[in-house]
Parts: sequence; structure tokens; C-alpha cells
Amino acid sequence: MSRPHSTSSPEPPAPGPWWRDAVFYQIYPRSFADADGDGIGDLAGIRDRLGYIELLGADAIWLNPVMRSPMADHGYDVSDPRDIDPLFGDLDDFDELVREAHARWIRVVMDLVPNHTSSAHPWFAAALAAPPGSRERARYHFRDGRGPDGDEPPNNWPSIFGGPAWTHITDPDPNGQQHQGRPGQQHQGRPGQQHQGRPGQWYLHLFAPEQPDLNWGNEEVFDDLERTLRFWLDRGVDGFRIDVAHGMAKPDGLPDHDGWQSNKLLSHFDTDPRFNDPNVHDIHRRIRKIFDEYPHAVAIGEIWVHDPQRFAEYLRPDELHLGFDFHLALTGWDATAIRAAIDGSLAAVAPVQGTPTWTLSNHDVSREVTRFGGGPIGIARARAMILVELALPGAVFVYNGAELGLADVDLPDEALQDPVWTRSGHTDRGRDGCRVPLPWQGDRPPFGFTAATQGWLPQPESWAALTAERQLEDVTSMLSLYRSALELRRRRPELSGGIDWYGSPPGCLAFRRHGGLTCALNTTAVPVPLPPGAVLLASTPGVDTQLPPNSAVWLL
Ligand code: NOJ
Repeated sequence: MSRPHSTSSPEPPAPGPWWRDAVFYQIYPRSFADADGDGIGDLAGIRDRLGYIELLGADAIWLNPVMRSPMADHGYDVSDPRDIDPLFGDLDDFDELVREAHARWIRVVMDLVPNHTSSAHPWFAAALAAPPGSRERARYHFRDGRGPDGDEPPNNWPSIFGGPAWTHITDPDPNGQQHQGRPGQQHQGRPGQQHQGRPGQWYLHLFAPEQPDLNWGNEEVFDDLERTLRFWLDRGVDGFRIDVAHGMAKPDGLPDHDGWQSNKLLSHFDTDPRFNDPNVHDIHRRIRKIFDEYPHAVAIGEIWVHDPQRFAEYLRPDELHLGFDFHLALTGWDATAIRAAIDGSLAAVAPVQGTPTWTLSNHDVSREVTRFGGGPIGIARARAMILVELALPGAVFVYNGAELGLADVDLPDEALQDPVWTRSGHTDRGRDGCRVPLPWQGDRPPFGFTAATQGWLPQPESWAALTAERQLEDVTSMLSLYRSALELRRRRPELSGGIDWYGSPPGCLAFRRHGGLTCALNTTAVPVPLPPGAVLLASTPGVDTQLPPNSAVWLL
């Protein structure tokens, strides 16, 4: 690996892009480590734990949003994209984090939220105060309502978080009076409901009302993003994960859609008009031109696209460097489905010679231990799957806490904070269960996460057995397995080249890297004979000639 870019130590020429086989460690800053004792993780907390990330062996950290935000969607509602939210620290803390990470050869990738702003962004405040048709409103999607009184939303799109994708506002009084209401508290498009004040236009928000969608047909929107990109890239960051990278362009006329198939986060379909408009590719080409001026930096798109051809379009040489592939994160404990997901992901990037990416979980989906059945069996399966994932060619994303084998937490109603919970009318518990603060040390909550009595979400007592402190000392722990796998992945030449599949019994899979490593997985309930080879690493102790149930192995 070549040393990460840093403003203080320029990067020497590298043989190939660093991100092509990098392991990115995803940090959810609220939940990682709290240094100032307010119960919420922060940048200083991350800085204090850089030694842990180095020990783990990750090449880069990806930080979920840390920009200034009222936190309606925990940072995905950005009110100033060129500042750090005081909850997490300030720009000096950020610069120091980048500097110290680089000193440990760890790259730093930020989250960028270009599809929408916060409703507290000065642009949106100006849009609410300005009349219909104004330059201020043209930065967003404002429309007149339908129906005789304009009392119905402009189209039938739902918001991903539940409810309509439109919020009705009161226009400013033409005699100069300002708008009074606040987004999220206004008329929600239910016909017959009374307005306070003068009925006005509606604005589009694919997510919460506090996240108005930007109009990417407006040049000011691109210009502002360019400023933001340069602001952080000039400070030395190594790239961006681009939120909703398939959603910035909207179809002309914002037409109604028949046949909504699924409206869950990350599981909408390719025909969904809210995403994948072909014009989004022009936006990515323009963004890429800026990245090309910073050759060390990587652009990683959150692209929720099923069709492999469409997926590949985002990875053309003049668009994104990497695209998140979520298929493994949604695949159950079934060898055939896992193999199909791997094949699908490899095939998707092949036509553009793109780099495959692998993700078992993130801050939006269930943790893999839970997905694979929870308890000891969920842990055994998650251990096996990381050996599969880390044996594959391409870039890997590890969500903080996965390396400790954490499961989703069943939180009480009163603890839930995800806007999904309220927006769904309390029918969908949302994503808080996979965002509970990490257990670092000690025997009881908050397990060294914070000096406060508890973190922003309560941790279960049972995590005493899963603290990083305990697992670092235990060679059989999940953390030790991760460390060994990452170390071998980085050092062993056998983990190179493409893959060939081996024949394997039903419920199993086996593939061989061209460099020479074989990975075998057994998802059945009975042991199966192993292919020939010496065991390099196994997810279950004592593997010899047989691969136990719910296990994987690396062979040479
Ligand atoms: C995708 C992010 O991963 C998710 O957490 C967020 O709520 C939405 N985009 C909206 O920004």
C-alpha cells in the first residue's frame, strides 16, 4: 500500500488505485466512541481509537455524515456541508483526525449528501420565504398541488420513510409577510385537512420532510457541490461515499407511477421513477471531472440498482470509481443464493472492468449475526461469511461492530429515534437496532463508550462478553478472526486474481482465487469433506478433513 494522501506528506506515485482491494471500516460516528461525555460519539472519540482500527487492519475509514446538521436523519440532513457539526467537534478536530489517520496509513472517506439538504439549510429557508417561481425555489422541487384547491400532492410518490414524498407549505404573504410554519409540522397532504395561513406550494422530499430534494437541473446546485468537494479534498480527505447516488436526477414532469412494488429503504425496484433517471449519469460525469484533479481520491456511490447493466453504467470510466453492491447484505443463509449474489456482483462490474464491492451490513440494514439467525448460530454463520467476503477480489466494507459479532438490539419503543419509526405510524421500527453504541471495555453499559451514564441508545448487558477489550485478548474471538483474515488478505499473494468455482455438495460452495487460495463454505447442518489443501484460516476451531456446519475455511 502506498501512504495515504495527506496535506502534510504528499503521496508518492502508486502502482494502482489504493481502493481496488481496500478494506473500508465504516464508522457510524454517533455510535463509535464518545470523548466529550455527552453520550454521543464524536471525532475525538474516533481519534482516540485509531490504534484499534490499525490493529484491526483496515485500509480506510468511511465516516457517516459529520457535517453540520439538525440530525433529523442523524446527519443525512445537512444544513452546512462545509462545516463539522458541533456534536462531533469542529474543523480542527477533523483536520487532526485526518492527520493522525494518515500517520497510521489509514485513509479517510467522508459521506456526501448531494440529493437533498436539511430544511434548516439557508437555501431552503430562503425558498420558503420566496414566492413561487422564484430563483430561491428553483433550487428545490416546488410544485403547485393538484385538485381544485391545490390541496392534493403534485404526484403520487411516497417518501421512502413513509407518508407522501410531498409537504404542503404556506406561501409567503405577497404583502411581504414571511412564511411561519416549519417543515415536518405542516399539512402532510391529507385532503380535507385545514391549513394555517395561505395555502401554497408543495415541496418534494424522497426521505423525511426535513430533507428537501435538490433540483439538479439547477446550475447553482452543482456549483455548490463542487465547492464542497474541493473544500474537503483540499483538506486531505481520500474520497467520498455519495449518498443516494442513483437518485439526484428526477424524471421530467415528475410523473405519477402505477404499481409501487416496495417502498422500503434500499429495496426499491429499478422501475421506481424516483431513482435511476438516465440524466443522473451526466451529474456523475461532472463530479468525476473534479475527482480527476485529486487522483488519490475515490468516489463510491450508494447505487441501489438490481439490473447489472444499469449498475455497470454508473461505473463507466468517467463516472464513479466504486458502487456499493448490496446483494450480499440482503442474502440469507443459503449457499446457492450466496453464490448467485457473488456471480451477479462480479458480472455486474465486468463489462466496464470495474471493481466489485462487498458489504454484509451497514447502518441501514440488519446486522449479519441477526440476519443469519441470531445467537451462537448467527455468530457462527457471520464468522463463516466474513471468510467468504474477505476471500473475494475487490473492495470490502465492514460496518463498525461487525468485527465484534454484534447483533441488532431489540430497543424499547421510547428509545427509538429513527424517523422511519414515526413516519411509518409506528409500524416499522426503523434502523436504530443496528446503530447501538459499541462496547469497548468493562462489565456493564456503557462499556467505555462514554463517560455519561449511558449512550444515546441503550446497550444490552449481554454485550459484556463482546467488548473489544475482551475480544482482543481472546484468540478465538470474532475480532481475532477479523484481524487474522485482514492480515492474511493484505500479505498473502494467494489472495489475488479472479475466482473459479469448484464443484461442491448441495448447501456448500467453494471457489479458488487465481493466486491459489481456496475458500469453502458449508451452510448445511452436517459436516462435509473438505477439498484438498492445508488450512490457512477457519471460522470454526479444529477444522481438518471435514468442514463443520455453518463454517468456512481458507485452504492453500
Ligand atoms: C441512505 C443513507 O444510507 C440513509 O441512512 C439515509 O437515511 C438516506 N440515504 C437518506 O439520506
